[in-house]
Amino acid sequence: MKDLSMDVDALDAEAERILRMNDRGGYSVPTAGLYPYQWNWDSAFAAYGYAMFDLDRGWRELEVLMAGQWPDGMVPHIQFHKVDPSYFPGPDIWGGVGPVPSSGISQPAIAATMARLVYELDPGAGAERMRALYPKFIAWHRWFMEWRLDRDAVCLTHPWEAGRDNAPDWDGPLARIDPSGIAPYERRDTGHVDPSMRPKKADYDRYLWLVKQGHDCGWDQAHLRDVNPFRMADPTMHFTLLRGHRDLMWLGAELGLDTGPLPDWIAQLEAGAETLWNAQLGAYDCRDAVTGDWADAVSNAAFLCWYARVDPKTTAAVYARVQSKVQFGVASHDPDSPAFEPKRYWRGPTWAMMNMLIAMGLDEAGRPEGAALRASTVRLIAGNGFAEYFDPLTGAPAGGKDFTWTAAIWLGWASPKARRGRWAA
Ligand code: DGY
Repeated sequence: MKDLSMDVDALDAEAERILRMNDRGGYSVPTAGLYPYQWNWDSAFAAYGYAMFDLDRGWRELEVLMAGQWPDGMVPHIQFHKVDPSYFPGPDIWGGVGPVPSSGISQPAIAATMARLVYELDPGAGAERMRALYPKFIAWHRWFMEWRLDRDAVCLTHPWEAGRDNAPDWDGPLARIDPSGIAPYERRDTGHVDPSMRPKKADYDRYLWLVKQGHDCGWDQAHLRDVNPFRMADPTMHFTLLRGHRDLMWLGAELGLDTGPLPDWIAQLEAGAETLWNAQLGAYDCRDAVTGDWADAVSNAAFLCWYARVDPKTTAAVYARVQSKVQFGVASHDPDSPAFEPKRYWRGPTWAMMNMLIAMGLDEAGRPEGAALRASTVRLIAGNGFAEYFDPLTGAPAGGKDFTWTAAIWLGWASPKARRGRWAA
């Protein structure tokens, strides 16, 4: 790789080049080949990145994302705008029922938060576009509140819905699924990326079993709630939605729009956060909504408590422990755990966009760890490029290359020249 060691202008130019290269005209792909469609939370980060050099393009990304919203309010995790055989499972396997061919599950609700950051860059230029998006965000958030709560904590119904696909948090509930009976299939991801950096076959079988179940139910949420054996209350889903509610509340007040149910939803999720507190672990944890069991896993999602502005309790001590074990960023899974694998996707690697969200919260709470996390993410990217994720022990790049969200958060947060949102002022 070309040595970009802290030539800030060269790094900024490279990040912009990656975003332009991954632009498919109104929406971006996370990276060519491995992920050739529009992914939900990837797109939200992309919008913020584009807005750094092309504000109109930033808004457009969010508008195209929200145009794929289903009649029930759900915004799918993948939109298949143009069929590409290099990806599996495609639109026919999913059988989404929205206006654009899509998957049938959602993803962490960070788009409203990114919309606020884009809006704040130039409120005059963004007001009308934000007004148009606002009711769509409310409808999406309502869908989560209606279909995804367990004891007022937000659940996922498929590991892909959390974005943290193969996190050890899901090992227990996935093991209960017998995937026999799924049609033979050929994975495409391991043709693009070293299989040691990807989920294992046993996981993939279960991902597809869950897709088939949803497809067979026509993605009817009431039906799925009764039959789906996989339902995990999760800090990623919970903290991102709570933060999204807060940012919508801010935008509503700013633009003189009806904030309707938002204050109640915020109070409900503030209370629900308590049901994710695993006192023995000393951190927020995933809870199996079917069995009531804890995952007993310290993931990077636990450290989004500051971002959500809930009581961190003893989280800072756990953060200090896990940070003492790595050189770069925040590990996606506890480095002291036997399940930790520093290169395998969400079982250890550090993810630049998660680092940004964690640091946003730490900065807002006035904690010094946010600046340190940013500095380590800067070293990570400057030394290793714009990879999908990185080994937190060595910084080695892993997964896909020329990755949209890594480039986007470089431009919007990590770069020493970033015009960061107000949170970091
Ligand atoms: C994949 O294909 O690995 C994606 O993460 C699914 O969203």
